Formats: sequence, structure tokens, C-alpha cells
Amino acid sequence: MKLLVINGPNLNLLGVREPGIYGTLDYNGMIELVRTECAEAGIETDFYQSNHEGDLVDVIQDARGKFDGIVINPGAYTHTSIAILDALKAVALPAAEVHISDVTKREPFRQISYAGMACCVHVIGQGVAGYGMAARQLAEKIQKGQVC
Ligand code: DQA
Repeated sequence: MKLLVINGPNLNLLGVREPGIYGTLDYNGMIELVRTECAEAGIETDFYQSNHEGDLVDVIQDARGKFDGIVINPGAYTHTSIAILDALKAVALPAAEVHISDVTKREPFRQISYAGMACCVHVIGQGVAGYGMAARQLAEKIQKGQVC
């Protein structure tokens, strides 16, 4: 089982960026945490982060045939990017949406998730632990053939 964990804009600044909302663990620390948690569950992970929408579309397209599924936190592109939604639908890989913060309790402009419309797992507001939770839930669905 091999999953690609994709992070969008500003998530490279984890630990520095609004720590009251996103926590104090930095991006590399998050990778180590998620990699370890996933490895314990028999899930291999690769990680990709970009601040650019087109790069995120490219990496989603490239995942086809290389990964069993995608875990994605598109950052602010969650709420704006039909291109990322379309890319997820185009590759038709099982996908899980992660948000570190509880976007459901934040500003009105964060209440729509385009990427989430292509995801069959949603882990929201669980901090960085949400990545590992999403990966395990997605892997379980894939293993049971309950893919979206
Ligand atoms: C986020 C929530 C988004 O609204 C925000 O733009 C982010 C991070 C989260 O993980 O909570 O960049 O996706």
C-alpha cells in the first residue's frame, strides 16, 4: 500500500505559521510523524508540497499508476481550486482530504471544499495527527475495495 501525501500552499511553514491554529510541529517533523505512523500500519508514504496550484495538479496527474491513493491538504486551494478537484477526479485515485484546523468553525470562505468533493475520507480539525488518521482510513477502504 503506497500513498502520496500532498500539501498545498503555506503548509511548508508549519510550526511557524499561526501556531495557535496549526500547531508547533514543523513540516519535516510532520513528515517524520506521518511516515512513522503509516509505516507501523504497513503503509508506505511519499510526500510533496507546493505553493503553486499547477504543480499540485501535475503531481496529482503523475500519481496515476504509481500510488494506491492520495492524502491531500490543499491549503487555501481547498476553497478555490476546481483544477485540483478536476485532477483528483481525472486520475480517479481514492483520495482523503485533511485539514489541520477545524475549517467548519472558521470563516465563511472556508466552508466550501472543492477538493473534498473528490474524496471519500475527510479528517478535519485533528491537528497534524489527522494526516495519519486519514491515511489509515483511506488504506482500510482501499483494502476492503470500498474506494470512491
Ligand atoms: C487548512 C485550512 C485552510 O483553510 C487554510 O487555507 C490552510 C490550511 C488546514 O489544514 O486547516 O492553508 O487546509
